[in-house]
Amino acid sequence: MLSDPRKSPPRAVIRTVERIRDVLPSLHRRLVPGHFALLEMVAAGWLSQAIHAAAVLDIAGALADGPRDGADLARAVGADEDALHRLLRLLAGHGIFARRRDGRYALTPLAQALRADAPVSLRDAVLFYGSAEHRDRWTHLVDAVRTGRPTVHADTFFARIRGDRALGELFERAMVSIDGLGQEPLLAAHDFTRYGTIVDIGGGRGALLSAILRRAPDCRGVLFDLPEVVADAPEWMPEARPGGRCTVVAGSFFDSAPVGADAYLLKHILHDWPAERAVHILRTVRAAMSPEARLLLIELVLPGHIRPHPGNYIDLEMLVHTGGRERTESEYRALLADAGFTLVSCTPTVSPENILEAVPAP
Ligand SMILES: C[S@@+](CC[C@H](N)C(=O)[O-])C[C@H]1O[C@@H](n2cnc3c(N)ncnc32)[C@H](O)[C@@H]1O
Repeated sequence: MLSDPRKSPPRAVIRTVERIRDVLPSLHRRLVPGHFALLEMVAAGWLSQAIHAAAVLDIAGALADGPRDGADLARAVGADEDALHRLLRLLAGHGIFARRRDGRYALTPLAQALRADAPVSLRDAVLFYGSAEHRDRWTHLVDAVRTGRPTVHADTFFARIRGDRALGELFERAMVSIDGLGQEPLLAAHDFTRYGTIVDIGGGRGALLSAILRRAPDCRGVLFDLPEVVADAPEWMPEARPGGRCTVVAGSFFDSAPVGADAYLLKHILHDWPAERAVHILRTVRAAMSPEARLLLIELVLPGHIRPHPGNYIDLEMLVHTGGRERTESEYRALLADAGFTLVSCTPTVSPENILEAVPAP
């Protein structure tokens, strides 16, 4: 276990660990009868729900100061002691929380990530992905597979989360939470100090832009997102306060983008949208760019192989939620060409994210 979860080990180490992680389950699947292996995968949905319950109860927060016995912990999180024990028995079997010899419950490295104050906290992501709203969308997967279309499209999805303040807040915090996983690898894979001004298009709460500005002290930032999203930006983004290095611009990327920056960053934007809408966004950005400016797409580029890959999950997530999709490098190249860009590089990072760098085509 790394002492600081924000620091990434070298790429070769990560790839070796991933390879082992792919091989072991495939060995397990071959050794046990198919119906057992399949049932275990079905039960993974219940495990996910159990993790969500632990996040809602904030069990990790209640254990932050040290181990507690069942009665004390149940009191602290407002739960029934026996039911809490049953929940923790399942989770501890998967390394999320531990039950010590003296019967007291304690945090494990996995449970630490459920703490709201962890250096890389997944709590908000767990709260969003386990929410009734999110789960309900997934029940429509079969319809989406039948028709090739989601029951809601990206416009409706974003309008829905904007129309419900609590849900919108949760979504934005979930994005910040997920962002924390890939930040260090992105900063290590690309030299952001070479730009004078970077615009983060659809930058949400600006978590990545803040990290870039801290890494590139001479750089200025522009955070661009829908008005409802960036209205309170100075509250959660110190660089957006008076005298800071970040300007906040409200607008829609279907209408306009801030002009004159050296780099235009779009992280997890194009995957939300079907091809023609994605091209529309790219054309809007291109119209704002000078010929020398760079476009940086950060996406989970799908690999050519069919081994497990996080992009395959998010691809279905996009199918049910927005009508968007994950894409291969050649699909991104084609999309970019349609919008008047030339893809110059696709750089992998130690996380599953890739940085696609493009320039306006002459
Ligand atoms: C999947 S989130 C990604 C947020 C951020 N880039 C990140 O990676 O954490 C998509 C973002 O696009 C923004 N968005 C959706 N429709 C938009 C529009 N028409 N114009 C500008 N931003 C929009 C959303 O508010 C949201 O912040």
